[in-house]
Amino acid sequence: MIYLDNSATTQPDPQVIETMKRTMETFYGNPSSLHRMGVEAENVLKQARQIAAQALGKKPSEIYFTSGGTESNNTAIKGVAMRYKDRGRHIITTQVEHASVIDVCRQLEEFGFEVTYLPVDNQGRVSIDSLKQAMRPDTILVSIMHVNNEVGTIQPINQIGTYLKLFPKVIFHVDAVQSFGKVPLRINEWGIDLLSLSAHKFHGPRGIGILVKRENLQIEPLLKGGGQEGGLRSGTENIPGIAGMAKAMRLADEAASKEIIRLQKLKQQLISGLEEINGCEINTPTENSAPHIINFSIPGMKAEVLLHALEAEGFYVSTRSACSAKSDEPSPVLLASGIPVERAKAALRISLGKSNTEEEIDQFLQALQRCVKRILPYRKV
Ligand SMILES: Cc1ncc(COP(=O)(O)O)c(C=O)c1O
Repeated sequence: MIYLDNSATTQPDPQVIETMKRTMETFYGNPSSLHRMGVEAENVLKQARQIAAQALGKKPSEIYFTSGGTESNNTAIKGVAMRYKDRGRHIITTQVEHASVIDVCRQLEEFGFEVTYLPVDNQGRVSIDSLKQAMRPDTILVSIMHVNNEVGTIQPINQIGTYLKLFPKVIFHVDAVQSFGKVPLRINEWGIDLLSLSAHKFHGPRGIGILVKRENLQIEPLLKGGGQEGGLRSGTENIPGIAGMAKAMRLADEAASKEIIRLQKLKQQLISGLEEINGCEINTPTENSAPHIINFSIPGMKAEVLLHALEAEGFYVSTRSACSAKSDEPSPVLLASGIPVERAKAALRISLGKSNTEEEIDQFLQALQRCVKRILPYRKV
């Protein structure tokens, strides 16, 4: 089988698995315990924080371990909302965020916050002008993703962050779950206050992630308890997960410059092949998009039917973001980008990871041609 669903999750690197196994076997003390085993576990934690900080260009004290992207996004958004509600109750985000941002914003609306969901252009991109128009004296938070998980659009985080420097009291959160290791990320330079990451998107374990929080920024914790993670995220630390994530970060960081070029080539190979398929429309922007995500539609061909036909040929792909893949509705991300309903319903996402090769892309394109020929006579959306 050939796995082409790396935006949903990635295969853990064998070195990550080995690190986790060793950590579970050896360093199973609780880092809060005072005895030697506790101290050893605490050292693993410190070392992992150091590696993560180095990979992100931040201080170790700015790294907070969480259970993943969803928790980091919830902590960032609710943490700011709870802390600064007396200063203002207006939040700005976009119409194309992951559910772990959009649904949190909707939840906050039920608690009296007002949220502006910025529109995007036909490339799925927000404009600085629409952000400027949306800003209000009571805006406390702007939350915008770096790379879109369905189509791969890269948002202009640098420009947004630079503009937001004019508003030192407005906090800038970035969901970078799909971007780490795939797209350059400059947290300090771009004025990012809070940033979310998830290890299982870069060949690390699932159930572990990071919230980067700028030094001196105060937000309310979501989880109260034993006061771990500087009081921001109570709960006994997931040391094997944290060690595994640190390993995956180091590997991704070391490989990034070459890997980005390699993925870009694979993406180009895929797009060229897709363009040869009659009627195939590429939903991923041609410029400023991540190297690992390609979204396309073959109109008239129901995405789910094609997905299962490809599966029967030995290829795993997806229709949209993993958490909403079972929904029958067309993707709100594609609709927000102005893609017509029928084309959105036909959309498939290919997402690449470090084990995918040129041969696999060739094989995939041949299989896709076969599937299209087979299904086309019976097509029905
Ligand atoms: C852009 C984005 N944000 C957040 C998440 C949620 O991350 P996690 O699965 O670690 O909760 C995902 C996962 O698909 C994602 O793609």
